[in-house]
Amino acid sequence: MSEAESILVVDDSPDTREVLRRNLTSKGHTVITSSGVTEAIAVLAANCIDLVITDIRMPGIDGFDLLRHVHENYKESEMLVITGFPSVEGAVRAMKAGADEYLAKPFTVEELFLAVDKALEKRRLKRKAIGPSILPARYGLIGESKAMAEVYRAIAKASASSATVLVQGESGTGKELIARAIHYGSRRASFPFVPVNCGSIPEQLLESELFGHIKGAFTGASTARAGFFQTADRGTILLDEISEASLSMQVKLLRVLQEKEICMLGSSTPRKVDVRICAATNKDLSALIKKGLFREDLFYRLNVFTIVIPPLRERGDDIIPLIQHFIARKSEEFGRKPPLLSEEALAILRGYHWPGNVRELENVVQRLVAMADGDLIEVPDLPSLMRFSALRTGDLTRTLAEVEAEYIQSVLDSVNGNKSLAARILDVDRKTLREKLRKTDA
Ligand SMILES: Nc1ncnc2c1ncn2[C@@H]1O[C@H](COP(=O)(O)OP(=O)(O)OP(=O)(O)O)[C@@H](O)[C@H]1O
Ligand SMILES: [Mg+2]
Repeated sequence: MSEAESILVVDDSPDTREVLRRNLTSKGHTVITSSGVTEAIAVLAANCIDLVITDIRMPGIDGFDLLRHVHENYKESEMLVITGFPSVEGAVRAMKAGADEYLAKPFTVEELFLAVDKALEKRRLKRKAIGPSILPARYGLIGESKAMAEVYRAIAKASASSATVLVQGESGTGKELIARAIHYGSRRASFPFVPVNCGSIPEQLLESELFGHIKGAFTGASTARAGFFQTADRGTILLDEISEASLSMQVKLLRVLQEKEICMLGSSTPRKVDVRICAATNKDLSALIKKGLFREDLFYRLNVFTIVIPPLRERGDDIIPLIQHFIARKSEEFGRKPPLLSEEALAILRGYHWPGNVRELENVVQRLVAMADGDLIEVPDLPSLMRFSALRTGDLTRTLAEVEAEYIQSVLDSVNGNKSLAARILDVDRKTLREKLRKTDA
């Protein structure tokens, strides 16, 4: 028995979409529909699609462009063209653009099933030949945005040296992952990478944890113990949440950076260490310096090489690849077939502001994969917080009409102005949406 295969139906006619969806679902396939090429491209980016069924003549971008896009980017997907304007030329053009099957309207259900079966059989053979697809990843980091390209370049540069690196970014943006990438890309890769969270270790303990202690250094120190700096010898230490280190600890760290040596607790003999230091923070260190909470000289020592990772909401292009990455990973963990995401659900995830950044996205996807009982995740499956995220809190002076207008606009923006899609997300009909838009324009 084969498992349910995923089919994307692209047609500007709602009737055709519905007929295809109903028939193909009855055959046990999982079906996503798209009303146009732009929407279909987003669906393809986030889902593993076995077969794309597309119309050719559609307003805006036509089906040939979609065929080429799929042919170039998703070699393993099959393509079936349906057209109401059959012609030999059209068929030849479609085949040249990579279509596997061609079906002229009107067609019977039997003809449809035959064409779909033929295409899916090809897909199965290909799958056997190719094996499971390998996701593109750079140092385990996902993301194709300009900002990430910048980060990859910085990681490569930092890996080539032993300079101290400061990684700055909001919580959950991947600072630790970046520090790991630098370590594993460097000549220190075969030595330890030791992350230390300066915020979660109590101040008195932090010193002995970092530098170790000699026998009898304090009550209870019955044996000598090495600290993280010794453990990380010839490798890399990550001083995470560096802003949380006390001022006296900052002085000690400054010494390590300047002298490249440490003093074990209870000893006055300094020892040389060969450790690359990375520091990470989600705080604005310059602001802390102004307040006298962070030492300026330590800042300059740390800030030799800075990598700033922008929040996820400023890297919109990374959201879909990250969703796809985590869907694949979590599905594997849970031993299930990856669920698909509907076009509308994707639009909401894409438009959400992700205050918890990639960590939040990972948690949301994990929950969706764990809870999905079907093969398709749709808008009602999303956390309600996300569906109403455009209603920003904080400003309590706005009227209901203003809030509504702003929310409608943000939904429209997230679907590139596609009104019928926006109406579906908002759960109103197109007429109501039109009226509401007219009112706000007036
Ligand atoms: N670009 C990315 N690609 C893949 N996974 C990522 C990416 N960025 C972050 N993650 C994942 O998101 C989670 C959070 O990342 P990480 O712990 O590195 O964030 P952080 O910036 O150190 O957060 P905090 O400030 O809260 O310590 C991890 O599970 C990490 O694997
Ligand atoms: Mg971290």
